[in-house]
Amino acid sequence: MALMNDSDVYYDPFDFAIDDDPYPVWQRMRDEKPLYYNERYDFFALSRYEDVSPALTDWQTYRSGKGSVLEIIRANVEIPPGVILFEDPPRHDIHRSLLARVFTPKKMTALEPKVREFTTRCLDPLVEGGEFDFVRHLGAQMPMRTIGFLLGIPESDQEAIRDQIDRSMNLEHSTAQDVYDDEFLSGSMFADYIDWRARHPSDDLMTELLTAEFEDETGTVRRLTRAEILTYVTLLTGAGNETTTRLIGWTGKLLAAHPDQRRQLAADHSLIPNAIEEILRYEAPSPIQARYVAQDVELHGQTVPEGSVMALLNASANRDDRHFDSGDTFDIRRKIDRHLTFGYGIHFCLGAALARLEGRVALDEVLNRWADWEIDWPNAKMAHTSTTRGWERLPALVR
Ligand code: HEM
Repeated sequence: MALMNDSDVYYDPFDFAIDDDPYPVWQRMRDEKPLYYNERYDFFALSRYEDVSPALTDWQTYRSGKGSVLEIIRANVEIPPGVILFEDPPRHDIHRSLLARVFTPKKMTALEPKVREFTTRCLDPLVEGGEFDFVRHLGAQMPMRTIGFLLGIPESDQEAIRDQIDRSMNLEHSTAQDVYDDEFLSGSMFADYIDWRARHPSDDLMTELLTAEFEDETGTVRRLTRAEILTYVTLLTGAGNETTTRLIGWTGKLLAAHPDQRRQLAADHSLIPNAIEEILRYEAPSPIQARYVAQDVELHGQTVPEGSVMALLNASANRDDRHFDSGDTFDIRRKIDRHLTFGYGIHFCLGAALARLEGRVALDEVLNRWADWEIDWPNAKMAHTSTTRGWERLPALVR
């Protein structure tokens, strides 16, 4: 192995200390090693916007079929059909278009009153207390209520499901293999609802999944199997919760750190949608999209061989000064053409409209109650999970 000297850039995505603040090392990668190679874990990484953005759209070269999370590719696990995040065309297109049919942006925006109701129910009991945890009291609750409502899962069971997801994704308690072997991916906890809903149709998404017809890879028009529905429902619950939980945490943290901008927002709520975009850009909750390289590719004068693992650092690209003026400056009025927080190309986040809605409503309702807050740092804690970056506990003293 080559000896490293002090000037070498070293990025370890599994090091919790680096995960706490990866931005300095990502900046060095962008400046000094735009094509980075990590010998220890045997993966390449792209960190500049102008590299990450085209790679996300080039699905023929950068493939998701072995998983799009570093540990999943490395663990070489079998992926069940229907986990569209981990599929390539043509299978991806079939599953994605079916899911997109039942999971439309229009349906998401119609959810606003429900999202507001769930948010209000989280916040109202805390108004007098002077203390509020952005993650425990809101981020970990409201997105689960919302997706649970969409799918038709009774509220009394949602907490157990949320705990299960947390447990399966938490790297402090799981090995990479656990994440896949875990009940979470097999989706067995949803099986009872699917069977029950099949006998009692309603107007929820689960019923739509049960009755939707589509043409599969063999050209047969059919309905989804029970196993496929299980995978879909598990995917939606996993992809839609953890990430939005982190967005709400980052909202609390960034606006505590920028009280002047927080005051502007409190005085003018019409600034909220753009502020949420800037929060998404500045602290991407899902910071790394991994791919395997399906054909040799030339990058920055080097050949990345077929079969390599490539980490696309979308969170780093979002701070790239070559693309965004003063990328490390947080500015709720910034004009953003396109950040890469929801990915780009064929895997672009199916829940982006819902995530934006939830972020917007959460901030609106927090500011309706408190214009001022400080983080209680001794009691705050980062979460270290396989797919997201953000806070597990973010208690604040609120006024
Ligand atoms: C895909 C981020 C919320 C469902 C993705 C991808 C990213 C992402 C980066 C692309 C992954 C890749 O290219 O490999 C986020 C963030 C969210 C969020 C940061 C919140 C702030 C949601 C919500 C849902 C959802 C609320 C649904 C309830 C999905 C699904 C995919 C996806 C189904 C797979 C799309 C495909 O592979 O075609 N998300 N997401 N996400 N997201 Fe989200």
